[in-house]
Amino acid sequence: MSNVKFYGGETYPVEMHKVRIIQKLNLLPIEERLAAAEAAGHNTFLLQNVDVFLDMLTDSGVNAMSQEQQAAMFRADDAYAGSATFTRLNEKVIEVFGMPYFLPTHQGRAAEHILSSVLVRPDTYVPMNYHFTTSKAHVVANGGTVLEFIRPEGLEVTSEHPFKGDMDTDALEALIADKGADAVSFVRVEAGTNLIGGQPVSLANMEQVSAICKSHGIPLVMDASLIADNLYFAKVREERCRDMEIAEIMRAMCDLFDIVYFSARKVGFGRGGGICVRDDAMFHKLRVLVPLFEGFLTYGGMSVREMEAITVGLDETLDFDMINQGPIFIDYMVRELERRGVPVITPPGGLGAHIDARRFLDHVPQLEYPAAALASAVYVASGVRGMERGTMSEQRNADGSEPLAHMELVRLALPRRVFTLSQINYAIDRIDWLYQNRRLIGGMAFVEEPEILRFFFGRLAPLTDWPNQLVAKFREDFGDSL
Ligand code: F0G
Repeated sequence: MSNVKFYGGETYPVEMHKVRIIQKLNLLPIEERLAAAEAAGHNTFLLQNVDVFLDMLTDSGVNAMSQEQQAAMFRADDAYAGSATFTRLNEKVIEVFGMPYFLPTHQGRAAEHILSSVLVRPDTYVPMNYHFTTSKAHVVANGGTVLEFIRPEGLEVTSEHPFKGDMDTDALEALIADKGADAVSFVRVEAGTNLIGGQPVSLANMEQVSAICKSHGIPLVMDASLIADNLYFAKVREERCRDMEIAEIMRAMCDLFDIVYFSARKVGFGRGGGICVRDDAMFHKLRVLVPLFEGFLTYGGMSVREMEAITVGLDETLDFDMINQGPIFIDYMVRELERRGVPVITPPGGLGAHIDARRFLDHVPQLEYPAAALASAVYVASGVRGMERGTMSEQRNADGSEPLAHMELVRLALPRRVFTLSQINYAIDRIDWLYQNRRLIGGMAFVEEPEILRFFFGRLAPLTDWPNQLVAKFREDFGDSL
């Protein structure tokens, strides 16, 4: 995105790329959208993409690739062991993240699987700024306890705090003073955060966390899946980063960590993942698990084509004009929703726009899954597929009770360079309509509830006939419009 001024004073973001391959989209009539929602148990994960108009479920593995990435995929060197493709990826990862060792994995959670298997000692703590679903599940599966040390402003829905992802270092120090450094398996910093709205972590905060970990000999791990957005925000919001190149900010951040892992479904605009390691002994401990779970050390479950795309994608991640498209589009969407009174997480972060379902549906109790109800209602009203990120995404306590989520969010992810501004405007318009008709939306109950990661396969049913009432109101207001 460039700094383009309009004669008429508008402040639209202008795309600095053009579209050369297209995919035809399908917008079903609302009655068919409701039928599709019902067939999916009102869980947007269970919708068929052919029934979706704008897929804002995630940015994972669905970002648009550049022509350079596509071109690189043609020269992939197909070899089980020692492919030239892996050599290229390995060198690029070492250059970009600045660590001596790299282990490939098939995606981010596979890196978490390996890291948690090696690092988590039973009955220890793993403090983090905030959890991600898969990162928490792997720590818990290995007998650890996740502690979330997000600063209070991180959980304030409306705020103008520039780095809501920062970790509360006082809480970290207090834990170490209370339980001892041995009770902490590792500290994890998610940069930027996913579940609290794509909010970034400052370089200054990373430095503080790193100093604490170093002084106590605790391994410090960065989840860099959302680092592209985090780098953008460090550059535009953190004074000291303003004159730094993106590559320099990246190195300044990574230099503070012992391990950096990532989902290349997000960073690098590809599909895959990996772990960067500083310490020789740690590298050897982690390495044995790669062939066991992922594949040989020179592919780790990724195809050679994917690896070529990531190699180029990592270079593009260091290009400010490439990584600013996401945050700038998200900023536009969030500010336009906010202008219409729709409750959204502010300041706008990375990843996507996040609607505050608790305020949107303040008449729906948390135990009736307001974020899940809203995600389904957004799909029915617009064909836009978002994702529930609230209590449905939590896991029941051992006694069967519900841990209520800190936030009830509907995430509308913006895969990078995929949607046009008119499509974003369509989504804003339908959400605006839904907000004006929010009292029609009611709660949900599980009809099928898996034990872990239940948001993936769980099925829900509305507690009243509200979806049909919503459809009737849509027809009244929009006539025969799609
Ligand atoms: N860490 C973060 C911060 C993530 O956002 C994700 C994935 C992972 C780890 C796991 O990576 O999917 O490659 O195994 N987030 C996706 C999302 C699923 O939709 O936000 P993965």
